[in-house]
Amino acid sequence: MTVYTHIDELITLAGVVVKDGRRPSEDDLGIIRNGAMIVGDKQDGADFGKVMWVGPRSQFSKAIKSLRQTSKRKTQLHEIRLNAPAVLPAFADCHTHLVFAGDRAHEFELRNQGATYQQIAARGGGIRYTVQQTRTATTKQLLELASNRLRRLQAQGVTTVEIKSGYGLSERDEIRILEVIKKLKESSESRIVATYLGPHAVPPDTASGASDSRSVKAAYWCEIMTSTLQKIKSKGLADRVDIFVEENYYTLDEAREYLTRARELGIAVTVHADQLTRTGASLELAKMGAQSVDHCVQISETDIQALARTDTVCVLLPASDFYLKMKYPPARALIDAGARVALASDYNPGTSPTLDLSFVGVLARLEMRMSQVEVLAALTYNSARALGLANETGALQPGFSADFVVLGDNWRRLFYEIGHHPVQATYCHGRRITRP
Ligand code: NIG
Ligand code: FE
Repeated sequence: MTVYTHIDELITLAGVVVKDGRRPSEDDLGIIRNGAMIVGDKQDGADFGKVMWVGPRSQFSKAIKSLRQTSKRKTQLHEIRLNAPAVLPAFADCHTHLVFAGDRAHEFELRNQGATYQQIAARGGGIRYTVQQTRTATTKQLLELASNRLRRLQAQGVTTVEIKSGYGLSERDEIRILEVIKKLKESSESRIVATYLGPHAVPPDTASGASDSRSVKAAYWCEIMTSTLQKIKSKGLADRVDIFVEENYYTLDEAREYLTRARELGIAVTVHADQLTRTGASLELAKMGAQSVDHCVQISETDIQALARTDTVCVLLPASDFYLKMKYPPARALIDAGARVALASDYNPGTSPTLDLSFVGVLARLEMRMSQVEVLAALTYNSARALGLANETGALQPGFSADFVVLGDNWRRLFYEIGHHPVQATYCHGRRITRP
């Protein structure tokens, strides 16, 4: 066992776990002053890399004694003095498009000169431009680009990262991206959740040689439904699947069909919903049991109340709303209604070219009236929950993975200064994954 001590404030999120992510308040932070945390080592068997106990430093000898009694083992104990103002659960970024090549800096310029995201897409830019760049990049290049991005997230205290495919738009290219994500899973110290996002846009072409966009889309859709989903399932390439429901992309009917097929195959579903226009996909797919519904910018008052009664997590992505100069999603109303709200970067080269989660937190506070505590819960417990990892990471409670961040500053200064990441060290599965 390893015991971490000398922690001024140990933020456990105990109350957030009890409330299962709904309406988090200050009391739910479960702050332990002068805290200590016991984490299992290799010789602790099933507890390896897990939190075994948290509490005040003054009670830790008693805790050790009782842990040794229950395990009937005389495991060694070593102490690490963190001398930290705060330790908190590590962050999870539950919505990213981390694997792509090239950038869209030229489109950013065009948008700033008046073109809209949709106009650029209609001219063959947008997602399709990144698809071209990604298809021509080598697997090694894609791997290197994504690994660097992962490291930048680790430095901010992020240990869990969802990564979507979606810049391949053919069975072969999508599978190649999923294989890159698989390699990242194997080589990175982060916890990675792989999401297949084949239906991200209509591909520029198809293997069948069709050229008008309607037949290209029909052929691609048929491939996804009759072949690709099955293949990624049997190759174990995706933990879940996603679809972009939007005018000129995929329809609500297609999303229903997709979810039904995924369910037959036993794969979890998430959806890009109600981002630019209201399609009603957030509520509809939440009712059908989606793990998360993401964006939710254009949802109605009725949607909000109904979403709050589902188990689905609403993942809000304010950095993309900022870059697109959109309105922000109704976080305040969602949380007050009792919905589970998570935040994520939506990192991608088009609508959200930033990996900065402190910026996301600042926007959530400033533009969406989320409290600091709500932001903390949204980037930890709730984002883990959005990925189906509710009892695994996102809180520091016995049984949870020892994924934590050692802060060099008071936690109240988080999500305040843009770009300020007072992270001294990041731990995943009880192991330090950032360099001293
Ligand atoms: O989440 N909306 C669809 N997908 C991304 C944008 C991807 C892109 O523009 O490359 C998003 O905002
Ligand atoms: Fe996205």
